[in-house]
Amino acid sequence: MNIKYDFTGRKYVVTGSTRGIGYEIARQLMAAGAAVGVTGRDQSRLNAIEADCRENGFECYTVGADLTVTSELSALADFFHSKMGRVDGLINNAGINILESADALTPDAVERVIAANLTAPMLLTSLFAAEMKKHGGGTVVNVASLSSVTAFNHHSAYCASKEGLLGWAKVAAMELGPSGIRVNSVGPTVVLTELGKRDWNSDAEKRKRMESYIPLGRFVNPEEVASVVLFLLSDEAAMVNGEFVLIDGGYMTGKGI
Ligand SMILES: NC(=O)c1ccc[n+]([C@@H]2O[C@H](COP(=O)([O-])OP(=O)(O)OC[C@H]3O[C@@H](n4cnc5c(N)ncnc54)[C@H](OP(=O)(O)O)[C@@H]3O)[C@@H](O)[C@H]2O)c1
Repeated sequence: MNIKYDFTGRKYVVTGSTRGIGYEIARQLMAAGAAVGVTGRDQSRLNAIEADCRENGFECYTVGADLTVTSELSALADFFHSKMGRVDGLINNAGINILESADALTPDAVERVIAANLTAPMLLTSLFAAEMKKHGGGTVVNVASLSSVTAFNHHSAYCASKEGLLGWAKVAAMELGPSGIRVNSVGPTVVLTELGKRDWNSDAEKRKRMESYIPLGRFVNPEEVASVVLFLLSDEAAMVNGEFVLIDGGYMTGKGI
């Protein structure tokens, strides 16, 4: 990261931060001086992250929660508010994908993807925004996707959830803006995390074709996604609200050859 942000004294909660993009966002925020709430379901990863924070002098708080279980959302928000007091920003990053053909969708998979990728960010933002209002404002960044604005085979529930996220985020930005809360979203192309590898790395031909549609010729890495998220969280983006920032190497500028 070339730009050095100073988030000293700021407090953020990053969902899905046990690994992948969320872990990198949490890591960059802590390196910039922020206190960070880290969450996911994997208790051994949460323990390891907490130990690592202690060793490096970072301030972090961890709690396990399954975001597809609605009743766990308020417990998660209560935990971080009790540990951190004021929370300046929420990063709705946790997400899943279950590949299915449009003519063979299963209720369980559709419900799980929508619950994790859409319902949880909406409800969590509501819980955190109510507290942010009392403290004069805050920021929310959603890790949406290139799938928010274009279709991919076997991504029915995923595309629906990620496009839905943008629809809701515009309403949230409009309603929460007057309370000093900014709501923005990012849309990465493929990132070779566990999720990305599962969807794009097992079929070499499919991966090559996808990369060939990206004018910059490659997938994006977690560090590059996190640095855009940090910009949106920072005061440098004080007047950016209701926006969606694609991080797609130019994919959406045109897929022609
Ligand atoms: N990778 C890509 O190509 C790509 C592209 C565009 C957008 N995105 C988006 O980026 C975000 C992060 O994805 P990633 O690629 O970093 O995936 P990842 O490596 O699979 O990490 C997903 C994170 O979400 C957490 N999570 C998943 N289901 C959860 C649940 N039910 N409750 C609580 N936490 C849960 C996981 O934690 P536990 O396992 O500990 O629960 C993990 O920390 C997602 O929203 C994804 O849609 C990814």
